Formats: sequence, structure tokens, C-alpha cells
Amino acid sequence: MRPLLIALFTLFTTTIQAADGGILVFGGTGRLGAEVVKLLVASGEQVTVFARANSNRDRLAGIKVDYAIGDMLDDASIAAAFNARTYRAAIDASAQREGGRGGTSESNGFYEATMRSMATHAKRTGVAQFILHGSVLAGDNIELFPQFTFLKGSSTLGDKGRAEKLLAESGVPYCIIRHGRVPNDPQPAPTGNAYLSTDQTIFADMTRGDLAMLTLDCLDNPARMNRVYHAFDPSYKMDRPLPKGPEDLRNRRNRTPAPQ
Ligand SMILES: NC(=O)c1ccc[n+]([C@@H]2O[C@H](COP(=O)([O-])OP(=O)(O)OC[C@H]3O[C@@H](n4cnc5c(N)ncnc54)[C@H](OP(=O)(O)O)[C@@H]3O)[C@@H](O)[C@H]2O)c1
Repeated sequence: MRPLLIALFTLFTTTIQAADGGILVFGGTGRLGAEVVKLLVASGEQVTVFARANSNRDRLAGIKVDYAIGDMLDDASIAAAFNARTYRAAIDASAQREGGRGGTSESNGFYEATMRSMATHAKRTGVAQFILHGSVLAGDNIELFPQFTFLKGSSTLGDKGRAEKLLAESGVPYCIIRHGRVPNDPQPAPTGNAYLSTDQTIFADMTRGDLAMLTLDCLDNPARMNRVYHAFDPSYKMDRPLPKGPEDLRNRRNRTPAPQ
């Protein structure tokens, strides 16, 4: 009897897995995104990475994924990616590089514009969960951090706040993971000690590997639906001091060619 039940259960779960189009990951070629993709693939998920035609795929070399080609700022290519399959979940680990590498210090509405497209098409195609990697201090969250008052008015943090709001109001079940600082390359190994907290006053350092694990903790997890979390790792601290004020911040930007 027992082997029969196990066989039926295996058949049932395999059917569910095969029936959904898997997971669509935005920013999957990036530093955080690639860690998320690798864990998803290792756990047997069918993963589609939304990437630009010229995105560097080195971090995913040898990893079995499909690619949906487009630009996140092009609504039509996002619509096409969501039309191609019925995804169970979508994950956004993209980032508009601030400063350095020819960029500006502003996100120029990247997060709001891209979330508008992603959330619209996720809702339209019945995606069951959207996991967003966001930032501590985004939107109104900055009000809880008097030590960072000098960052108030940052258009990037405002942009990220509007993206969160769009997702929360989209009708797609969501999980928002806000993080504080993540390290420069080379990326350190995960500690395995990170966790998600609903305490929105947490500002912590965190490895991308740990953030990837926390992403899988949210995936399909009913207890994590429609919540905003701050990631915390009591065992990891970067040796770079936090900026103390606007002048300190300006000096750092001028010193550092590519802020991470
Ligand atoms: N860095 C930090 O200190 C920090 C702090 C808090 C939160 N975060 C958040 O953490 C997440 C990941 O950051 P990260 O530093 O790991 O990212 P990253 O390494 O800079 O990777 C960014 C990813 O986004 C993709 N992307 C950017 N613009 C795109 C576009 N127009 N179309 C398609 N793809 C596009 C990039 O693709 P290409 O290869 O084509 O450029 C790349 O795959 C982001 O949500 C970020 O805001 C970062």
C-alpha cells in the first residue's frame, strides 16, 4: 500500500511541476540573480531568465536555464516573456547600476517603470507569486531611520518605494525582501545564518548567497505571502563603515568607480 501511495504522490507532484512554466527571473544574469537561479535549478525548478541580448551570461555558464530575450524597459518584451509560458512565480533581482560604469547616480524611474510592466503582465497571466528584491530605506521606510535623514529625497529610493507600492497594489500575491548593504566582488560565501524579519527598522549587511536562500524560503510559502521583510544576518558585517552624511557619501562616490 505504502509504495503505491508514494508512487501516486510522486506522479501527482511531478505533474504539477510539469504543468507550470516554472519561474521567470529578472536580473538572473546579475550577482544576486545568478545565485537565485542556481539554487532554483538545483532544487529542480524550470527557470527562465529574462535578459538582454547582450547580457553577460558568464555567471550562469553550465546552468540549464531558458532565456527570454528583451529589455526590462520595453513593455512589449516583458509581455512576450509572460505570454510564452504560464509561470508559477516571477522574481525580480534586477538592478539599475547607480553611478560608475557610465551610469548616473539616479535610477531615472527604472524600478517603477519596470515594475509597472512586470506586475501588469504577471497579473494578466495569473502568476501565483511575485518576489521582489528591494532596498531598506525605500519609499516611506526611510522615515524609520533618523540616521539616514540625509538620504531623504534620493530619487532612487523614491523610485524603489513606488515599485514596491505598485507590486503591493497589483493584486499579484507578493513577497518583498528588502536588503541593506551587499558586498563588492568577489562575493563571499553565504553564512547560512540569515533570516527574514518583519521588523522594518533593520538595516543589515548581507551576502547575496544568503539572499538567494531567503528567496527560496519565500517561494510558494503561504506564510510569506503579501509581506514585506528586512533581511538580517547576525553573523555577517562588512568592514566598510556606513556613510555618515551627504559629504561622506559624495566623497565615496567620487572615490569608487563602481558602487556595488
Ligand atoms: N548593490 C547594493 O548594495 C544593493 C543594496 C540593496 C539592494 N540591492 C538590490 O539587490 C538587487 C540585485 O543587485 P545586484 O547588485 O546583485 O545586481 P547586479 O549584479 O548589478 O545585476 C543587475 C541585473 O539586472 C539586469 N538588468 C539591468 N537593467 C536591465 C534591463 N534594462 N533589462 C534587462 N535586465 C536588466 C542586469 O543585466 P545586464 O547584465 O544586461 O546589465 C543584471 O542581470 C537589486 O534589487 C538591487 O537594487 C542592491
